Amino acid sequence: MTQTVPAHVAIIMDGNGRWAKKRHLAHTAGHRAGAQALKKLAPAVEKLGVKYLTVYAFSTENWKRPQEEVSALMKLIHEYIQQYIDDTKKNDMRIFIIGDKSRLEPELRRKIAELEATTETKPGLQVNIALNYGGRDEITRAARNLAKKTARGEIVPEDITETFFANQLDTGSMPYPDLLIKTGGEMRLSNFLLWKLAYTEIYVLDKFWPDFTINDMRKAIDWFNGRERRFGGR
Ligand code: FPP
Repeated sequence: MTQTVPAHVAIIMDGNGRWAKKRHLAHTAGHRAGAQALKKLAPAVEKLGVKYLTVYAFSTENWKRPQEEVSALMKLIHEYIQQYIDDTKKNDMRIFIIGDKSRLEPELRRKIAELEATTETKPGLQVNIALNYGGRDEITRAARNLAKKTARGEIVPEDITETFFANQLDTGSMPYPDLLIKTGGEMRLSNFLLWKLAYTEIYVLDKFWPDFTINDMRKAIDWFNGRERRFGGR
């Protein structure tokens, strides 16, 4: 039977802490293993034919974690962004950061700009990394931008249709996620992509993120193929 490969897969990479705890390791060792799992997964996901992969790396709420963990996570993300820059010649992925970058360290912001610019014209999988991202924050920022445009007379309120609004969100005109995968077993959206997940199929598995492999992705896609998507119709 031919399978439909979802064009856009979103992932909430949960369970890094529990993965580390089970091994009597520090929480940050779980994040490190998680970053490695993502690095290994992305090229394999690209081979399956997925076009967009959006992953939740750091939420607007994650700043509330212990200072040590926040610093370690930021350092890890910085390190991986540098690795992705160094590896650009080896792969054809386009990497884009979503979320509010204004709160990130200037040096990290510079690296992000460099990574986005060097991969911009790549033809392969687009990986969106959500950093200082919150779904409510994303909608609020979009609303604020539209209010500013309206105040400047660039648009009139009637221009703001559902599609117009959706295009102001961080993923712009990219297709909406078809499939959301959440590891770590907990059934909640955790403030991820709230607007665009409205009709997304949600697959939750108990495995912790660092243990997630391309085989798990294949299983999720098999499950997705068994779903009948009605988008509210019959
Ligand atoms: C949730 O696990 C995971 C995070 C808050 C961070 C996810 C980040 C990564 C996988 C690294 C990303 C790296 C790059 C380069 C994009 P948790 O700590 O909440 O786990 P727990 O629920 O078991 O405590």
